[in-house]
Amino acid sequence: MINDLWYKNAIVYCLSVETFMDANGDGVGDFKGLVRRLDYLQGLGVTAIWLMPFQPSPRRDGGYDVADYYGVDPRYGTLGDFVEFTHACRQRGLRVLIDLVVNHTSDQHPWFQSARGDPKSPYRDWYVWSKTKPADANQGMVFPGVQKSTWTRDAGAGAYYFHRFYDFQPDLDTANPMVQAEILKIMGFWLQLGVSGFRMDAVPFVIATKGARVTKSTEQYDMLRTFREFLQWRDGSAVILAEANVLPETDLDYFGRDGERMQMMFNFQVNQTLFYALAAADTRPLARALTATKPRPATAQWGLFLRNHDELDLGRLTEGQRQAVFAAFGPDPEMQLYGRGIRRRLAPMLQGDRRRIELAYSLMLTLPGTPVIRYGDEIGMGDDLNLPERGCARTPMQWSTEPQGGFTLAAEPVTPVISGGAYGFQHINVASQRRNPDSLMNWMERMIRMRKEVPEIGVGDFTALTLPTHEMLALRYDWRGNSALFVHNLTAIPRELRFDPAIPGDGPEELVNLLSDDHSAPDAEGQHCILLEPYGYRWFRVGGLGYLLHRRDL
Ligand code: NOJ
Repeated sequence: MINDLWYKNAIVYCLSVETFMDANGDGVGDFKGLVRRLDYLQGLGVTAIWLMPFQPSPRRDGGYDVADYYGVDPRYGTLGDFVEFTHACRQRGLRVLIDLVVNHTSDQHPWFQSARGDPKSPYRDWYVWSKTKPADANQGMVFPGVQKSTWTRDAGAGAYYFHRFYDFQPDLDTANPMVQAEILKIMGFWLQLGVSGFRMDAVPFVIATKGARVTKSTEQYDMLRTFREFLQWRDGSAVILAEANVLPETDLDYFGRDGERMQMMFNFQVNQTLFYALAAADTRPLARALTATKPRPATAQWGLFLRNHDELDLGRLTEGQRQAVFAAFGPDPEMQLYGRGIRRRLAPMLQGDRRRIELAYSLMLTLPGTPVIRYGDEIGMGDDLNLPERGCARTPMQWSTEPQGGFTLAAEPVTPVISGGAYGFQHINVASQRRNPDSLMNWMERMIRMRKEVPEIGVGDFTALTLPTHEMLALRYDWRGNSALFVHNLTAIPRELRFDPAIPGDGPEELVNLLSDDHSAPDAEGQHCILLEPYGYRWFRVGGLGYLLHRRDL
């Protein structure tokens, strides 16, 4: 049964149509261009695409300010082009997840325009109003430093409206049954057009009670079941991937104790402690996060990521841990954001050090969950810190050494392509890396291919081995009589490791290296002794390569 759960061993690739490929030459990416690049994505080996918001929008927050839930922004194409895209994905066996941004709308959305202009508007109750400014209006901002308040007065309405995010993103009153019905209709619409599910934006805020009288909001978890049931009535294989940066003790409230709520959530605990591990060569908080986020129903899955389109949020680390990550990866104030995070891309954070980039990706690909790769990270793209806030890590994809990195024929793309310097398109681009067998991109393709041959990671049980040092991490996965083992050295020095992989079953077994010929045989005491180079990693299969002959059906 569990093999049917496609998302448990998917490789997800996150991209924005705006910055991927511009076919019509107006300086903005479009669906036609994206369709032409699907063969590239298929070649890389990814199996699903998470497409960021593409609906009509003033785009004051990268499209997370939607002005029409049932359309395509004309800059990117038409609904027809969208269907051509989902069809082309289906032909290639690629699943599509799209963003579902329903905590708030754009203030330009006709619903809000109607609500603000007329107290009797049927949409008035779709938003959250207060006659006076609530006392806690200067609390709970998601973008501190940029956003001043969570309540803003609207002159037309003669009242204050609530907005968890920017003031141009009024919150929907998601507890209103009419709003909930509309959310289901939006899901149904896009499912009908060929998507396999949604990356649901800001889930804890979607389900929170809202209002001027709410001093401490509570989560209405039942709402998640409503969304999930509707989704699966319409399409049994569709999923919701929740953006919910929450504490492990509430994970089961989001997944549902019987797996009846969200199928997937991003693992923010692992993300933050992983960066701390990379910064400080201390895997203890990461190991604790893995243990804390282990309990989940059999159908639930974590989405694992390194960087995404937002800042690397370090808000859940201790002050000391956070400062260690800032010092290592974002020491300058211009690299930091909202007092809690780093806005850079992965490669520059790791000083472009190929060994550390490989280590980070090797970890992400072998931690328990489904990997979510950010476009451009497979070639080691950089950032443009001249662009405001999170925009610095949202520059166009770098395809070649042609003008504008082959992204567009326009002389001036709307978002500038990174040009010149170590991360400019002249050096970092797909075409050059394709020709070089040792490039990061070809390495990534090989790793993705191997990751797909180790389904144990997505569906098996994991055990963190007890090692004599916290500067290394060894995870073993067991599933249906097969085991795989992954060892990582987080330090800049070579490390010898003597360990007992404690393999369930008959006793000492050979460890077969999945990436090179450097296998390991056990000594007389069943111990293995391996030497890892600085930032080294090993992917082992336990026992011989006849493992498939031994795999059990149940
Ligand atoms: C989370 C998204 O990832 C972020 O980019 C956006 O600004 C907020 N939600 C508001 O929608």
